[in-house]
Amino acid sequence: MIIKLKDVTKKFTTNDLSFQALAGITLSVNEGEFIAITGTSGSGKTTLLNIIGCLDGQTSGEYLIMGESVGKFDEARKASLRNEVFGFVLQDFALVEHYTVRQNVTLPLMYVKDKKKKKGRENGAKDLLAKLGIEHKEKERTALLSGGQKQRVAIGRALINEPKLILADEPTGALDQKTSKDIMEVLKKLNEEGKTVIVVTHDPFVANCCKRVIQLEDGKIVSDTTRTA
Ligand SMILES: Nc1ncnc2c1ncn2[C@@H]1O[C@H](COP(=O)(O)OP(=O)(O)OP(=O)(O)O)[C@@H](O)[C@H]1O
Ligand SMILES: [Mg+2]
Repeated sequence: MIIKLKDVTKKFTTNDLSFQALAGITLSVNEGEFIAITGTSGSGKTTLLNIIGCLDGQTSGEYLIMGESVGKFDEARKASLRNEVFGFVLQDFALVEHYTVRQNVTLPLMYVKDKKKKKGRENGAKDLLAKLGIEHKEKERTALLSGGQKQRVAIGRALINEPKLILADEPTGALDQKTSKDIMEVLKKLNEEGKTVIVVTHDPFVANCCKRVIQLEDGKIVSDTTRTA
């Protein structure tokens, strides 16, 4: 398995008020899974995804990535995981609008120290854009793209460092239904090619595109179902 959470909790404390956002999450994710995390607003979806992506730490419990406890990792190790193991896709795309499509997609290469690896990925950027159907927009500034095209750029940026796991938080939240469907097709294709994909969503259509659906309520998993067909 790639990741394993054992009784993970998260408590946020602000001005002496504390809030239990995650109340004991136990979860294993295997390589090649395609998972939706659903639940009402405030149920803890983003909190959970941020812990999985090493953007935030848990309050208690254990989080293991490929058998190793994340609690023991220093900041540098976590930063390299964020850049090399995880690919993040967000609702609002988080692109640099005045950069071109290519500049946005290749941005994460800035942190790649291995020169050969970096060059190889730079050379592969064109194929990646072609695969995402935005090759013809390579030199366009992203500000000028449609929402669906922007999300494809964001997916390209998430993929450039060949991550094992794609973590998407409401990737279709800013898109219309038809465009959402296209983006889910892109994620489905990536999963079929072997990427592990975790999508946070409150959209039943998006959840239905995934093979396994985990439902959160008040920081707890209330159901975890895998489609057999
Ligand atoms: N940094 C923070 N400080 C304090 N409370 C927080 C923080 N982040 C999240 N919370 C609280 O934790 C709970 C879970 O938040 P989270 O963002 O994980 O919900 P969500 O399921 O992603 O909701 P949505 O569907 O609206 O995005 C919420 O009640 C939220 O107010
Ligand atoms: Mg959220």
